[in-house]
Formats: sequence, C-alpha cells, structure tokens
Amino acid sequence: MKFKTTPYHFDLLKDEERLAAFFNAIEEYGSNTDLAYDLGCGSGILSYFLSSYFDEIISLEKNTKIARLAKENLSNFSNIQVVNSDILDYGFTKKADLIVCEMMDTALIDEEQIPVLNRAKEFLKEDGVIIPMGIINTVELVNLERKNIHWDENGANYEIFSDAVVYSGFDFLDDIEPAFEKDISIKANRDGTVNGVKITTFTKLNENIICGPTPMLNPPLLIPLEERPVKSNDFIKVKLKYIMGKGIESIEIEYL
Ligand SMILES: C[S@@+](CC[C@H](N)C(=O)[O-])C[C@H]1O[C@@H](n2cnc3c(N)ncnc32)[C@H](O)[C@@H]1O
Repeated sequence: MKFKTTPYHFDLLKDEERLAAFFNAIEEYGSNTDLAYDLGCGSGILSYFLSSYFDEIISLEKNTKIARLAKENLSNFSNIQVVNSDILDYGFTKKADLIVCEMMDTALIDEEQIPVLNRAKEFLKEDGVIIPMGIINTVELVNLERKNIHWDENGANYEIFSDAVVYSGFDFLDDIEPAFEKDISIKANRDGTVNGVKITTFTKLNENIICGPTPMLNPPLLIPLEERPVKSNDFIKVKLKYIMGKGIESIEIEYL
C-alpha cells in the first residue's frame, strides 16, 4: 500500500525498526475487539496496522495537512475514521480497548505524549492496553563538542565518560506528573573533562518488545553543563528538571 505524506512523516515511514516495533506490538495484541484510538496518527500507518483487528479505529491528528493525507490514504477502510483535531480539545465519548500513541520523543520532553495520555486514558476500558506501554530513561556523562541542547543525529560529536544510569521509568497506565525533577549521581569511568549529559530513552512497546533509539524514535538528547574535570570513579551529582510535553526549553540542569 502507498502512503502520501509530508517529508517529516515520510522519514517516520522510512524508519523500519520503529515501524517493526509497532507492527509487532499491534500483532501481539491481536484479538478482534471493538475500538482503538490512534493518537497522533500522522500518515495513518499505525491505523492501517490496526485495521484488521478492530471494528472501529478513531485516528486523531492535529496537523491539518497530514490529517487530510491520512484520510486519503485510509479512504478504503470503512472501520477507520480520521479526525483532524488537537487531542487535548477532542470530545472523547467512547471507551477503547486499545490506545496507540506514538508521540514519542526523548524522555517525552518535546512531544505531548504525557498530557495527551493523561486526557485520553479516561477513555480507556478498565482492562484496556496502551501501546507503547512505557519508557525507561538512562543518563551518561559526556564531553560535548556543541554547547547547546541537541539530538544525537547529523554527526553530533561527543565522548562518553560513564556507564549509563537508569534515572527514571514510566508505565503509561499510571497517572504521570508532567513536571519531572530528579537528583542523579553518575560515576565517571575515566579521567578527563565532562561538560554535559546524554539522555537515552528505551520504549517498552509491550512486555516482550523494548525498542532502543532509532533514527526517528527518541534519538538521544545531549544537554550541556559547565566544564568540570573528573577522575575515574568520581561521583558527579546533577539536578535534572524538565516538563514533559513543554519542549526542550523546559530543561534545566545543574551540578549539586
Ligand atoms: C511522531 S509522529 C507519529 C505519526 C504516526 N503515528 C506514525 O507512527 O508515523 C506524532 C504525530 O502526532 C501529532 N500530534 C502531536 N501532538 C498532537 C496533539 N496534541 N493532538 C493531535 N495530534 C498530535 C503530530 O502532528 C504528529 O503527526
């Protein structure tokens, strides 16, 4: 099947590892049930994956251009309804068996996954399921070439100075407070100078499938700090704060 898309949504479609993770999780969920929501449906690819398992799929997308293309792409599927709406304004009426929500971004900072799920979860049946089911975040000490917050893509240059430390994790069925704050201790594993941290997010699609960063699913985030000399085995303590859904401008980090 051919999908018409915007350039951004085409990059999402080309990311086979990302698509395979969602395809496999939807296939493992399987069974023929009433209603699924596809939140942030983009081109409609995940609604297409859902189409053989559900009587009804409501696919919500706030971007007018891609919502129009998704309607075209899915016009032959009588069980899929594409709605051009911001999910935070959408008048949900029915409870779903499954919510698929791919508004992922590293540590969920730059996309509205948490505000959207906090709203949509009221319309999930008691035994309902969310794909993905949650995330795990890790942090490492780094020496960065660039001195601004950036993603690990397009040749970002840095050296790693610690093992990865798991600093947070969320199960999307829980109530999640968007404002995040944590004091984190990270042990340097060699001598040198650190001037930042790298955050990596692993996506738990379901109990069996964990997907590491892919080009379009949570590329690691590099966050600068002041320069600090370190020796191997030193513990570096930082306070990390951000608001999930409010963008990378909400990130604050300092040494403790
Ligand atoms: C990462 S893309 C995923 C697109 C598609 N599900 C896929 O897998 O290819 C996230 C999509 O969510 C949409 N989106 C973000 N926030 C939204 C909101 N509050 N309401 C509706 N759509 C939203 C974006 O416009 C974007 O198309």
